[in-house]
Amino acid sequence: MKRDGFGSRLGILAAAAGSAIGLGNIWKFPYITGENGGAAFILVYLVCIFLIGMPVMLSELVVGRKGASNPVGSFKKIRPKSKWKFTGVLGVATGFIVLSFYSVIAGWVFAYISRAFTGKLVAIAPEELGDFFGGLISKTGEPIFWQFIVLAVTAFIVIAGIQKGVEKYSKILMPVLLGLLVVLMIRSVTLEGASKGLEFLFKPDFSALTAKGVLEALGHAFFSLSLGMGALLTYGSYINKEEKLPSLALQITIADTLIALMAGVVIFPAVFAYGLDPKMGPELIFITLPTVFHEMPLGGFFEVLFFVLIGIAAITSTISLLEVPVSYVSEEFNMPRKKTTIIIAFVIFLIGIPSSLSFGVLGDVTIFGRTYFGNLDFVASNIMLPLGGLLLSLFIGWVWGTKNAIQEATNEGTLKFAFASAYGFLIKYVAPLAIVVILLYATGVIS
Ligand code: PHE
Repeated sequence: MKRDGFGSRLGILAAAAGSAIGLGNIWKFPYITGENGGAAFILVYLVCIFLIGMPVMLSELVVGRKGASNPVGSFKKIRPKSKWKFTGVLGVATGFIVLSFYSVIAGWVFAYISRAFTGKLVAIAPEELGDFFGGLISKTGEPIFWQFIVLAVTAFIVIAGIQKGVEKYSKILMPVLLGLLVVLMIRSVTLEGASKGLEFLFKPDFSALTAKGVLEALGHAFFSLSLGMGALLTYGSYINKEEKLPSLALQITIADTLIALMAGVVIFPAVFAYGLDPKMGPELIFITLPTVFHEMPLGGFFEVLFFVLIGIAAITSTISLLEVPVSYVSEEFNMPRKKTTIIIAFVIFLIGIPSSLSFGVLGDVTIFGRTYFGNLDFVASNIMLPLGGLLLSLFIGWVWGTKNAIQEATNEGTLKFAFASAYGFLIKYVAPLAIVVILLYATGVIS
């Protein structure tokens, strides 16, 4: 059977940027930027994205295209009979875990969308929003229901395949997302008192920066660019041999970064204009923004736009998360795609239920001082993703060889790749070293 694949360059870019752009950009980036003092943190983040994230991204695309298979199959093809296939297995496991809790947060977004549409959300008084949010996420049934819907929508698109599912929907959804973001940005920067928010974002104050902030920036670079678990490796396997991978990696990286910054430009001017706290944490978009919309003319309308936008961003990411285990199981065990997708999505749903309950009835059940959700998030984002990135860079730098990787990246030498030697250096030395530091920090070996 011929393997499915992307149909056009634009489709590839929409799907891959769709994977990268997600809750990481619109939900997490603003709140960790807020917690870490703003512009100085963003500068460090940019350095991490371009010097470490981008080379790792190109490496994933290259391994995927060379192997023309799922993460496990691709390593098997490039290094047969070696243990490297376990890097792929780690990626598949990480995808399972990340999707199980990512779908919980995406479910909250869906719950907000349902209330934004009916105008209920905008009617809530600002001082009651904290209780509203806390009440919603601590319920038992409703968040699980929305988590199920998120996974069902994701499975529906994944079942349709790469060209007729992932590519088709990304090509529609990504431009909509960009358009919505621009509208909201204009609204936010024209609020009275917006300039303080822009200053917070763009005028660095290095005294606000901590070692923890620097490491958080690097960890988030991985999460935000969808690296370290084979999502972009899998997408790479659907790309044909003529496409230019280095420029693709650059475009995905720029798109992801721009959207994160744009989300910042939507959120912080509003936060400052209404005298809210930028350091509020994970609730930032769920509490502060509805406050803003409540106060704003046409707030109900902008509120629908905003939460639909986050919902779209989340779905184009969950698709790529689900595609990893689906491609693995269907290819390696020769299972039909539809059946595989339904079974895996359902198992992920089951694993995700305790994550949802971590904000309610299981809130007091902690191991290592963290809830079930807290542990999965910590282990996946701070250990498994960086570990996946580390293994991949060691594989390229020291096993398969940067020469072979560059050969694949330049379409067997037919393409110009001006930064080939910089790429080789970064992936062989800089990326592994930097990642080892985050891992030591995350595991508490250094503090
Ligand atoms: N990059 C996505 C985001 O920012 C999350 C993600 C991580 C998706 C890893 C796929 C793989 O929301």
